[in-house]
Amino acid sequence: MNNIIIFDTTLRDGEQSPGASLNINEKLEIARQLAILGVDVIEAGFPISSPGDFEAVKSVAKSVKGPVICGLARAIEKDIDAAYEAVKYSARPRIHVFLATSKIHMKYKLKKAEDEILRLAVASVKYARAKCADIEFSPEDASRTDRDFLHKVVEAVIAAGAVTVNIPDTVGYTTPFEFAEIIKGIKNNVPNIARCVISVHCHNDLGLSVSNSLAAVLNGAGQVECTINGLGERAGNASLEEIVMAIRTRNDIFKDISTGINTKELYKTSRLVSKLTGMIVQPNKAIVGSNAFSHEAGIHQDGVLKERITYEIMKPEDVGFEETRLVLGKHSGRHAFAERLKKLGFDLKKEQIDTAFDRFKALADKKKEIFDEDLETIVDEEIARIPEKFRLVHFYISSGDEVKPTATIKLRFNNKVLEASSTGDGPVDACYKAVDKITGMTGKLMDYQIRSVTSGKDALGEVSVKVSLKGSIVSGRGASTDIIEASVKAYLNAANKLVYTSKKS
Ligand code: KIV
Ligand code: ZN
Repeated sequence: MNNIIIFDTTLRDGEQSPGASLNINEKLEIARQLAILGVDVIEAGFPISSPGDFEAVKSVAKSVKGPVICGLARAIEKDIDAAYEAVKYSARPRIHVFLATSKIHMKYKLKKAEDEILRLAVASVKYARAKCADIEFSPEDASRTDRDFLHKVVEAVIAAGAVTVNIPDTVGYTTPFEFAEIIKGIKNNVPNIARCVISVHCHNDLGLSVSNSLAAVLNGAGQVECTINGLGERAGNASLEEIVMAIRTRNDIFKDISTGINTKELYKTSRLVSKLTGMIVQPNKAIVGSNAFSHEAGIHQDGVLKERITYEIMKPEDVGFEETRLVLGKHSGRHAFAERLKKLGFDLKKEQIDTAFDRFKALADKKKEIFDEDLETIVDEEIARIPEKFRLVHFYISSGDEVKPTATIKLRFNNKVLEASSTGDGPVDACYKAVDKITGMTGKLMDYQIRSVTSGKDALGEVSVKVSLKGSIVSGRGASTDIIEASVKAYLNAANKLVYTSKKS
Protein backbone atom coordinates (compact mmCIF):
# COMPACT_ATOMS: atom_id res chain seq x y z
CA MET A 1 0.00 0.00 0.00
CA ASN A 2 1.16 3.52 -0.77
CA ASN A 3 0.40 5.54 2.37
CA ILE A 4 -0.30 9.19 1.58
CA ILE A 5 1.11 11.57 4.21
CA ILE A 6 -1.69 13.71 5.62
CA PHE A 7 -0.26 17.13 6.51
CA ASP A 8 -2.83 19.08 8.47
CA THR A 9 -2.55 22.86 8.35
CA THR A 10 -5.74 23.74 10.23
CA LEU A 11 -3.69 25.47 12.92
CA ARG A 12 -1.70 27.54 10.38
CA ASP A 13 -3.46 28.13 7.04
CA GLY A 14 -6.83 27.24 8.63
CA GLU A 15 -6.29 29.82 11.33
CA GLN A 16 -5.70 32.38 8.56
CA SER A 17 -9.46 32.22 7.82
CA PRO A 18 -10.76 35.68 8.73
CA GLY A 19 -11.99 35.63 12.34
CA ALA A 20 -10.85 32.07 13.06
CA SER A 21 -8.06 32.94 15.46
CA LEU A 22 -7.36 30.49 18.27
CA ASN A 23 -5.65 30.91 21.63
CA ILE A 24 -2.93 28.53 22.90
CA ASN A 25 -5.32 26.26 24.81
CA GLU A 26 -7.61 25.98 21.81
CA LYS A 27 -4.70 25.18 19.51
CA LEU A 28 -3.50 22.52 21.92
CA GLU A 29 -6.93 20.97 22.16
CA ILE A 30 -7.21 20.77 18.37
CA ALA A 31 -3.65 19.44 18.02
CA ARG A 32 -4.38 16.64 20.51
CA GLN A 33 -7.49 15.70 18.57
CA LEU A 34 -5.53 15.78 15.28
CA ALA A 35 -3.10 13.29 16.81
CA ILE A 36 -6.00 11.03 17.78
CA LEU A 37 -7.38 11.41 14.26
CA GLY A 38 -4.05 10.07 13.00
CA VAL A 39 -2.67 12.92 10.88
CA ASP A 40 1.00 12.46 9.99
CA VAL A 41 2.08 16.10 10.22
CA ILE A 42 0.61 19.02 12.18
CA GLU A 43 1.58 22.45 10.91
CA ALA A 44 1.03 24.17 14.23
CA GLY A 45 1.60 27.77 13.15
CA PHE A 46 3.90 30.46 11.80
CA PRO A 47 6.14 31.16 14.82
CA ILE A 48 7.63 34.48 13.66
CA SER A 49 4.17 35.95 13.02
CA SER A 50 3.41 36.75 16.69
CA PRO A 51 4.61 35.85 20.20
CA GLY A 52 1.27 34.09 20.74
CA ASP A 53 1.77 31.89 17.69
CA PHE A 54 5.35 31.12 18.73
CA GLU A 55 4.14 29.98 22.17
CA ALA A 56 1.33 27.94 20.64
CA VAL A 57 3.69 26.06 18.29
CA LYS A 58 6.09 25.49 21.19
CA SER A 59 3.32 24.08 23.42
CA VAL A 60 2.11 21.77 20.66
CA ALA A 61 5.71 20.61 20.03
CA LYS A 62 6.20 19.98 23.75
CA SER A 63 3.04 18.08 24.45
CA VAL A 64 1.60 16.45 21.33
CA LYS A 65 3.21 13.10 20.65
CA GLY A 66 3.02 11.05 17.46
CA PRO A 67 2.77 13.37 14.46
CA VAL A 68 5.61 15.46 13.05
CA ILE A 69 5.22 19.03 14.37
CA CYS A 70 5.95 21.66 11.77
CA GLY A 71 6.44 25.44 11.88
CA LEU A 72 6.27 27.75 8.87
CA ALA A 73 9.02 30.22 7.93
CA ARG A 74 9.73 32.64 5.11
CA ALA A 75 13.11 32.16 3.43
CA ILE A 76 14.63 34.49 6.02
CA GLU A 77 17.06 33.49 8.77
CA LYS A 78 15.09 35.07 11.62
CA ASP A 79 11.92 33.23 10.54
CA ILE A 80 13.81 29.93 10.34
CA ASP A 81 15.38 30.55 13.77
CA ALA A 82 11.93 31.23 15.28
CA ALA A 83 10.42 28.17 13.62
CA TYR A 84 13.22 25.95 14.90
CA GLU A 85 13.11 27.40 18.43
CA ALA A 86 9.38 26.57 18.55
CA VAL A 87 9.39 23.07 17.01
CA LYS A 88 12.65 21.77 18.50
CA TYR A 89 10.80 20.36 21.55
CA SER A 90 9.05 17.79 19.37
CA ALA A 91 10.60 14.35 18.88
CA ARG A 92 9.82 14.89 15.19
CA PRO A 93 10.36 18.58 14.30
CA ARG A 94 9.97 19.99 10.80
CA ILE A 95 10.66 23.46 9.35
CA HIS A 96 8.59 24.50 6.34
CA VAL A 97 10.28 27.25 4.32
CA PHE A 98 8.43 29.07 1.55
CA LEU A 99 9.40 31.56 -1.13
CA ALA A 100 7.34 32.71 -4.10
CA THR A 101 8.53 31.69 -7.57
CA SER A 102 5.84 32.94 -9.98
CA LYS A 103 6.61 35.92 -12.22
CA ILE A 104 3.69 37.84 -10.66
CA HIS A 105 4.94 37.37 -7.09
CA MET A 106 8.61 37.89 -7.96
CA LYS A 107 7.91 41.12 -9.84
CA TYR A 108 5.23 42.78 -7.67
CA LYS A 109 5.68 41.33 -4.21
CA LEU A 110 9.34 40.42 -3.85
CA LYS A 111 10.80 42.69 -6.55
CA LYS A 112 13.49 40.10 -7.24
CA ALA A 113 14.73 38.35 -10.38
CA GLU A 114 14.84 34.56 -10.90
CA ASP A 115 18.54 34.22 -10.06
CA GLU A 116 18.10 35.96 -6.74
CA ILE A 117 15.06 33.82 -5.87
CA LEU A 118 16.97 30.65 -6.70
CA ARG A 119 19.88 31.77 -4.54
CA LEU A 120 17.61 32.64 -1.60
CA ALA A 121 15.72 29.35 -1.86
CA VAL A 122 18.93 27.31 -1.73
CA ALA A 123 20.52 29.41 1.02
CA SER A 124 17.42 29.24 3.24
CA VAL A 125 17.06 25.48 2.86
CA LYS A 126 20.76 25.00 3.69
CA TYR A 127 20.40 27.29 6.71
CA ALA A 128 17.32 25.38 7.94
CA ARG A 129 18.90 22.01 7.23
CA ALA A 130 21.83 22.87 9.49
CA LYS A 131 19.32 23.06 12.35
CA CYS A 132 16.82 20.33 11.54
CA ALA A 133 16.89 17.19 9.39
CA ASP A 134 13.28 17.43 8.24
CA ILE A 135 12.95 20.38 5.85
CA GLU A 136 10.03 21.10 3.57
CA PHE A 137 10.24 23.76 0.88
CA SER A 138 7.32 25.44 -0.91
CA PRO A 139 7.74 27.48 -4.10
CA GLU A 140 4.74 29.71 -3.35
CA ASP A 141 2.33 30.23 -6.26
CA ALA A 142 3.90 27.18 -7.95
CA SER A 143 0.91 26.58 -10.22
CA ARG A 144 1.48 30.01 -11.87
CA THR A 145 5.26 29.58 -11.99
CA ASP A 146 7.10 29.14 -15.27
CA ARG A 147 7.54 25.35 -15.53
CA ASP A 148 11.25 25.35 -16.38
CA PHE A 149 12.00 27.69 -13.51
CA LEU A 150 9.86 25.57 -11.17
CA HIS A 151 11.85 22.46 -12.11
CA LYS A 152 15.10 24.33 -11.56
CA VAL A 153 14.05 25.53 -8.08
CA VAL A 154 12.78 22.09 -7.04
CA GLU A 155 16.00 20.42 -8.15
CA ALA A 156 18.13 23.03 -6.35
CA VAL A 157 16.28 22.85 -3.01
CA ILE A 158 16.43 19.05 -3.01
CA ALA A 159 20.18 19.27 -3.59
CA ALA A 160 20.32 21.77 -0.70
CA GLY A 161 18.63 19.32 1.68
CA ALA A 162 14.84 19.60 1.40
CA VAL A 163 13.20 16.20 1.93
CA THR A 164 9.69 17.34 1.02
CA VAL A 165 8.88 19.73 -1.81
CA ASN A 166 5.40 21.16 -1.63
CA ILE A 167 3.66 22.46 -4.76
CA PRO A 168 1.11 25.07 -3.69
CA ASP A 169 -1.79 26.25 -5.80
CA THR A 170 -1.67 29.38 -3.67
CA VAL A 171 -4.52 31.25 -5.32
CA GLY A 172 -6.70 28.27 -6.23
CA TYR A 173 -6.22 28.92 -9.95
CA THR A 174 -5.38 25.51 -11.34
CA THR A 175 -7.66 22.75 -12.64
CA PRO A 176 -7.29 18.98 -12.05
CA PHE A 177 -5.93 18.11 -15.53
CA GLU A 178 -3.48 20.98 -15.47
CA PHE A 179 -2.33 20.23 -11.92
CA ALA A 180 -1.79 16.57 -12.82
CA GLU A 181 0.45 17.77 -15.67
CA ILE A 182 2.42 20.00 -13.29
CA ILE A 183 3.11 17.06 -10.96
CA LYS A 184 3.98 14.76 -13.88
CA GLY A 185 6.25 17.48 -15.27
CA ILE A 186 8.14 17.66 -11.97
CA LYS A 187 8.50 13.88 -11.82
CA ASN A 188 9.80 13.71 -15.38
CA ASN A 189 12.07 16.74 -15.41
CA VAL A 190 13.67 16.99 -11.97
CA PRO A 191 16.57 14.50 -11.96
CA ASN A 192 16.84 14.16 -8.15
CA ILE A 193 13.07 14.05 -7.47
CA ALA A 194 13.22 10.49 -6.10
CA ARG A 195 15.11 11.87 -3.08
CA CYS A 196 12.08 13.77 -1.84
CA VAL A 197 8.35 13.49 -1.22
CA ILE A 198 6.18 15.60 -3.52
CA SER A 199 3.49 17.40 -1.54
CA VAL A 200 0.53 19.48 -2.73
CA HIS A 201 -1.29 22.39 -1.08
CA CYS A 202 -4.42 23.52 -2.91
CA HIS A 203 -6.66 26.49 -2.23
CA ASN A 204 -10.34 26.45 -3.01
CA ASP A 205 -10.98 29.72 -4.85
CA LEU A 206 -12.62 27.88 -7.76
CA GLY A 207 -13.99 25.07 -5.58
CA LEU A 208 -11.40 22.68 -7.07
CA SER A 209 -8.99 22.19 -4.16
CA VAL A 210 -9.99 18.61 -3.36
CA SER A 211 -10.15 17.59 -7.04
CA ASN A 212 -6.76 19.15 -7.69
CA SER A 213 -5.23 17.40 -4.68
CA LEU A 214 -6.66 14.05 -5.74
CA ALA A 215 -5.42 14.51 -9.31
CA ALA A 216 -1.96 15.08 -7.84
CA VAL A 217 -2.20 11.94 -5.68
CA LEU A 218 -3.01 9.89 -8.77
CA ASN A 219 0.09 11.32 -10.42
CA GLY A 220 2.65 10.71 -7.73
CA ALA A 221 2.12 13.20 -4.89
CA GLY A 222 3.00 11.49 -1.62
CA GLN A 223 1.78 14.18 0.77
CA VAL A 224 -1.41 16.25 0.80
CA GLU A 225 -1.78 19.45 2.78
CA CYS A 226 -5.31 20.03 3.96
CA THR A 227 -7.47 21.37 6.77
CA ILE A 228 -10.42 20.25 8.84
CA ASN A 229 -13.68 21.64 7.38
CA GLY A 230 -11.63 23.10 4.51
CA LEU A 231 -10.68 26.18 6.57
CA GLY A 232 -7.99 28.47 5.22
CA GLU A 233 -7.19 31.74 3.51
CA ARG A 234 -10.10 33.20 1.48
CA ALA A 235 -12.19 30.25 0.19
CA GLY A 236 -10.07 27.87 2.23
CA ASN A 237 -7.84 24.85 1.65
CA ALA A 238 -8.63 21.34 0.50
CA SER A 239 -10.77 19.64 3.13
CA LEU A 240 -9.04 16.79 4.94
CA GLU A 241 -12.22 14.80 5.47
CA GLU A 242 -13.16 14.97 1.78
CA ILE A 243 -9.72 13.88 0.57
CA VAL A 244 -9.50 11.01 3.04
CA MET A 245 -13.00 9.71 2.35
CA ALA A 246 -12.61 10.04 -1.42
CA ILE A 247 -9.44 7.94 -1.32
CA ARG A 248 -11.11 5.37 0.91
CA THR A 249 -14.51 5.22 -0.81
CA ARG A 250 -13.11 5.11 -4.36
CA ASN A 251 -10.41 2.52 -3.76
CA ASP A 252 -11.21 1.22 -7.24
CA ILE A 253 -9.61 4.42 -8.57
CA PHE A 254 -7.11 5.10 -5.77
CA LYS A 255 -5.76 1.57 -6.06
CA ASP A 256 -3.28 0.60 -3.34
CA ILE A 257 -3.45 4.12 -1.92
CA SER A 258 -4.41 4.66 1.71
CA THR A 259 -4.11 7.12 4.58
CA GLY A 260 -3.48 6.51 8.26
CA ILE A 261 -6.57 8.48 9.29
CA ASN A 262 -8.96 6.99 11.81
CA THR A 263 -12.05 8.08 9.89
CA LYS A 264 -14.35 7.46 12.87
CA GLU A 265 -12.80 10.56 14.47
CA LEU A 266 -13.63 12.84 11.52
CA TYR A 267 -16.98 14.14 12.73
CA LYS A 268 -15.75 14.78 16.26
CA THR A 269 -12.71 16.65 14.93
CA SER A 270 -14.87 18.72 12.61
CA ARG A 271 -17.19 19.69 15.49
CA LEU A 272 -14.29 20.63 17.72
CA VAL A 273 -12.67 22.83 15.06
CA SER A 274 -16.00 24.44 14.25
CA LYS A 275 -16.68 25.20 17.91
CA LEU A 276 -13.25 26.60 18.68
CA THR A 277 -12.88 28.69 15.53
CA GLY A 278 -16.50 29.83 15.51
CA MET A 279 -16.68 28.78 11.83
CA ILE A 280 -19.99 26.96 11.47
CA VAL A 281 -20.05 23.99 9.09
CA GLN A 282 -22.67 24.38 6.38
CA PRO A 283 -25.34 21.63 6.69
CA ASN A 284 -24.70 20.37 3.15
CA LYS A 285 -20.90 20.15 3.62
CA ALA A 286 -19.63 16.82 2.27
CA ILE A 287 -18.74 14.18 4.90
CA VAL A 288 -19.30 16.24 8.08
CA GLY A 289 -22.30 18.50 7.36
CA SER A 290 -25.39 17.75 9.43
CA ASN A 291 -27.29 16.81 6.25
CA ALA A 292 -24.50 14.68 4.77
CA PHE A 293 -26.32 11.48 5.68
CA SER A 294 -29.95 12.71 5.85
CA HIS A 295 -32.43 11.54 3.25
CA GLU A 296 -35.32 13.89 2.65
CA ALA A 297 -37.05 12.70 -0.52
CA GLY A 298 -39.55 9.88 0.03
CA ILE A 299 -38.08 7.83 -2.82
CA HIS A 300 -34.63 8.11 -1.26
CA GLN A 301 -35.89 7.21 2.23
CA ASP A 302 -37.71 4.21 0.82
CA GLY A 303 -34.59 3.13 -1.10
CA VAL A 304 -32.30 3.43 1.92
CA LEU A 305 -34.72 1.44 4.08
CA LYS A 306 -34.79 -1.31 1.47
CA GLU A 307 -31.04 -1.30 0.90
CA ARG A 308 -28.71 1.35 2.29
CA ILE A 309 -26.34 1.37 -0.73
CA THR A 310 -29.12 2.63 -3.03
CA TYR A 311 -28.41 6.18 -1.88
CA GLU A 312 -25.49 5.97 0.56
CA ILE A 313 -21.92 5.61 -0.67
CA MET A 314 -20.40 5.74 2.83
CA LYS A 315 -21.63 4.58 6.21
CA PRO A 316 -22.32 7.48 8.60
CA GLU A 317 -20.69 5.54 11.43
CA ASP A 318 -17.46 5.28 9.40
CA VAL A 319 -16.96 9.04 9.75
CA GLY A 320 -18.12 9.07 13.37
CA PHE A 321 -21.77 10.07 13.02
CA GLU A 322 -23.55 8.18 15.72
CA GLU A 323 -27.20 7.96 16.53
CA THR A 324 -27.90 10.61 19.12
CA ARG A 325 -28.27 8.65 22.31
CA LEU A 326 -30.19 9.53 25.41
CA VAL A 327 -27.60 9.14 28.10
CA LEU A 328 -28.52 10.76 31.36
CA GLY A 329 -31.35 12.48 33.18
CA LYS A 330 -32.16 14.44 36.29
CA HIS A 331 -31.65 11.47 38.59
CA SER A 332 -28.34 10.28 37.19
CA GLY A 333 -25.55 10.28 39.73
CA ARG A 334 -22.02 11.61 39.67
CA HIS A 335 -20.55 8.17 38.95
CA ALA A 336 -22.65 7.55 35.83
CA PHE A 337 -21.88 11.09 34.73
CA ALA A 338 -18.12 10.64 35.15
CA GLU A 339 -18.22 7.27 33.37
CA ARG A 340 -20.06 8.76 30.42
CA LEU A 341 -17.55 11.60 30.13
CA LYS A 342 -14.76 9.03 30.10
CA LYS A 343 -16.49 7.13 27.27
CA LEU A 344 -16.76 10.38 25.33
CA GLY A 345 -12.99 10.69 25.52
CA PHE A 346 -12.69 13.39 28.21
CA ASP A 347 -9.87 12.93 30.68
CA LEU A 348 -10.86 15.29 33.49
CA LYS A 349 -9.56 16.00 36.97
CA LYS A 350 -11.88 15.54 39.97
CA GLU A 351 -12.57 19.28 40.38
CA GLN A 352 -13.37 19.57 36.67
CA ILE A 353 -15.83 16.69 36.91
CA ASP A 354 -17.44 18.38 39.94
CA THR A 355 -17.85 21.68 38.06
CA ALA A 356 -19.26 19.94 35.00
CA PHE A 357 -21.57 17.85 37.22
CA ASP A 358 -23.06 20.99 38.84
CA ARG A 359 -23.69 22.41 35.40
CA PHE A 360 -25.23 19.11 34.28
CA LYS A 361 -27.62 19.13 37.26
CA ALA A 362 -28.67 22.70 36.50
CA LEU A 363 -29.28 21.72 32.88
CA ALA A 364 -31.21 18.58 33.86
CA ASP A 365 -33.64 20.80 35.79
CA LYS A 366 -34.49 22.62 32.58
CA LYS A 367 -34.11 19.82 30.07
CA LYS A 368 -35.67 16.37 30.47
CA GLU A 369 -33.21 14.36 28.42
CA ILE A 370 -29.49 14.93 28.26
CA PHE A 371 -27.64 13.65 25.19
CA ASP A 372 -23.95 13.12 24.47
CA GLU A 373 -23.86 16.38 22.52
CA ASP A 374 -25.22 18.22 25.58
CA LEU A 375 -22.47 16.73 27.74
CA GLU A 376 -19.81 17.70 25.20
CA THR A 377 -21.15 21.25 25.21
CA ILE A 378 -21.16 21.43 29.01
CA VAL A 379 -17.60 20.19 29.30
CA ASP A 380 -16.53 22.48 26.55
CA GLU A 381 -18.21 25.47 28.23
CA GLU A 382 -17.11 24.80 31.77
CA ILE A 383 -13.74 23.17 31.44
CA ALA A 384 -11.99 24.13 28.25
CA ARG A 385 -12.79 27.80 28.77
CA ILE A 386 -10.38 30.61 29.17
CA PRO A 387 -10.63 32.40 32.56
CA GLU A 388 -13.90 34.29 32.96
CA LYS A 389 -12.85 37.78 33.93
CA PHE A 390 -16.44 38.84 33.28
CA ARG A 391 -19.00 36.24 34.35
CA LEU A 392 -22.73 36.48 33.86
CA VAL A 393 -24.59 36.59 37.15
CA HIS A 394 -28.05 37.57 36.01
CA PHE A 395 -29.90 39.07 33.09
CA TYR A 396 -33.35 40.50 32.68
CA ILE A 397 -34.99 41.54 29.41
CA SER A 398 -38.27 43.04 28.41
CA SER A 399 -39.19 42.85 24.76
CA GLY A 400 -42.16 42.59 22.46
CA ASP A 401 -43.49 43.95 19.19
CA GLU A 402 -44.76 47.14 20.83
CA VAL A 403 -42.09 47.89 23.41
CA LYS A 404 -38.53 49.07 23.10
CA PRO A 405 -36.32 46.07 23.97
CA THR A 406 -34.54 46.71 27.26
CA ALA A 407 -31.97 44.63 29.12
CA THR A 408 -30.41 44.70 32.56
CA ILE A 409 -27.22 42.73 33.02
CA LYS A 410 -25.29 41.85 36.15
CA LEU A 411 -21.71 40.64 35.72
CA ARG A 412 -19.15 39.49 38.25
CA PHE A 413 -15.81 41.25 37.74
CA ASN A 414 -12.93 41.07 40.26
CA ASN A 415 -15.27 39.77 42.98
CA LYS A 416 -17.69 42.66 42.52
CA VAL A 417 -21.12 42.48 40.91
CA LEU A 418 -21.61 45.28 38.40
CA GLU A 419 -24.94 46.16 36.82
CA ALA A 420 -26.00 48.13 33.74
CA SER A 421 -29.12 48.56 31.62
CA SER A 422 -29.64 49.51 28.02
CA THR A 423 -32.20 49.57 25.26
CA GLY A 424 -31.42 48.14 21.82
CA ASP A 425 -32.81 47.16 18.42
CA GLY A 426 -33.71 43.75 19.84
CA PRO A 427 -33.19 41.89 23.13
CA VAL A 428 -29.76 40.59 22.13
CA ASP A 429 -28.62 44.04 21.02
CA ALA A 430 -29.91 45.54 24.28
CA CYS A 431 -27.98 42.91 26.29
CA TYR A 432 -24.78 43.51 24.32
CA LYS A 433 -25.03 47.28 24.85
CA ALA A 434 -25.53 46.73 28.59
CA VAL A 435 -22.49 44.42 28.65
CA ASP A 436 -20.44 47.07 26.82
CA LYS A 437 -21.32 49.60 29.53
CA ILE A 438 -19.87 47.29 32.18
CA THR A 439 -16.77 46.06 30.33
CA GLY A 440 -15.99 49.50 28.92
CA MET A 441 -15.28 47.88 25.53
CA THR A 442 -17.59 48.68 22.63
CA GLY A 443 -17.99 45.56 20.57
CA LYS A 444 -19.20 45.52 16.98
CA LEU A 445 -21.01 42.31 16.14
CA MET A 446 -19.59 40.99 12.84
CA ASP A 447 -21.29 37.60 12.79
CA TYR A 448 -23.94 35.84 14.86
CA GLN A 449 -24.99 32.21 14.40
CA ILE A 450 -27.23 30.00 16.44
CA ARG A 451 -27.78 26.28 16.24
CA SER A 452 -29.46 23.77 18.44
CA VAL A 453 -27.12 21.20 19.96
CA THR A 454 -29.78 18.46 19.88
CA SER A 455 -33.40 18.35 18.74
CA GLY A 456 -36.53 19.16 20.74
CA LYS A 457 -38.06 22.34 22.16
CA ASP A 458 -35.90 22.17 25.27
CA ALA A 459 -32.65 21.70 23.30
CA LEU A 460 -29.52 23.61 24.23
CA GLY A 461 -28.96 26.51 21.86
CA GLU A 462 -25.36 27.23 20.97
CA VAL A 463 -24.50 30.74 19.83
CA SER A 464 -21.27 31.60 17.99
CA VAL A 465 -20.32 35.22 17.51
CA LYS A 466 -17.53 37.17 15.92
CA VAL A 467 -17.02 40.53 17.55
CA SER A 468 -14.76 43.37 16.55
CA LEU A 469 -13.22 44.54 19.84
CA LYS A 470 -10.37 47.01 20.17
CA GLY A 471 -9.28 46.42 16.57
CA SER A 472 -9.29 42.59 16.74
CA ILE A 473 -11.92 40.18 15.52
CA VAL A 474 -12.58 37.72 18.34
CA SER A 475 -14.85 34.69 18.26
CA GLY A 476 -16.94 33.57 21.21
CA ARG A 477 -19.51 30.95 21.96
CA GLY A 478 -22.02 30.17 24.64
CA ALA A 479 -24.74 27.62 25.25
CA SER A 480 -27.96 27.58 27.22
CA THR A 481 -31.54 26.38 26.93
CA ASP A 482 -32.31 30.12 26.79
CA ILE A 483 -31.03 31.66 23.58
CA ILE A 484 -30.68 35.15 25.05
CA GLU A 485 -28.51 33.74 27.82
CA ALA A 486 -26.49 31.77 25.22
CA SER A 487 -26.06 35.00 23.24
CA VAL A 488 -24.79 36.93 26.27
CA LYS A 489 -22.42 34.10 27.20
CA ALA A 490 -21.02 34.01 23.65
CA TYR A 491 -20.42 37.77 23.69
CA LEU A 492 -18.76 37.58 27.11
CA ASN A 493 -16.62 34.67 25.94
CA ALA A 494 -15.28 36.88 23.14
CA ALA A 495 -14.59 39.75 25.59
CA ASN A 496 -12.87 37.36 28.03
CA LYS A 497 -10.74 35.94 25.22
CA LEU A 498 -9.55 39.40 24.30
CA VAL A 499 -8.69 40.23 27.92
CA TYR A 500 -6.90 36.87 28.29
CA THR A 501 -4.86 37.12 25.07
CA SER A 502 -3.88 40.77 25.58
CA LYS A 503 -2.71 39.92 29.10
CA LYS A 504 -0.57 37.05 27.77
CA SER A 505 1.13 39.00 25.00
O1 KIV B 1 -0.93 28.83 -0.07
C1 KIV B 1 0.31 28.81 0.05
O2 KIV B 1 1.06 28.97 -0.90
C2 KIV B 1 0.84 28.62 1.39
C3 KIV B 1 2.31 28.36 1.49
C4 KIV B 1 2.90 29.01 2.69
C5 KIV B 1 2.55 26.89 1.45
O3 KIV B 1 0.10 28.57 2.35
ZN1 ZN C 1 -1.99 28.21 1.71
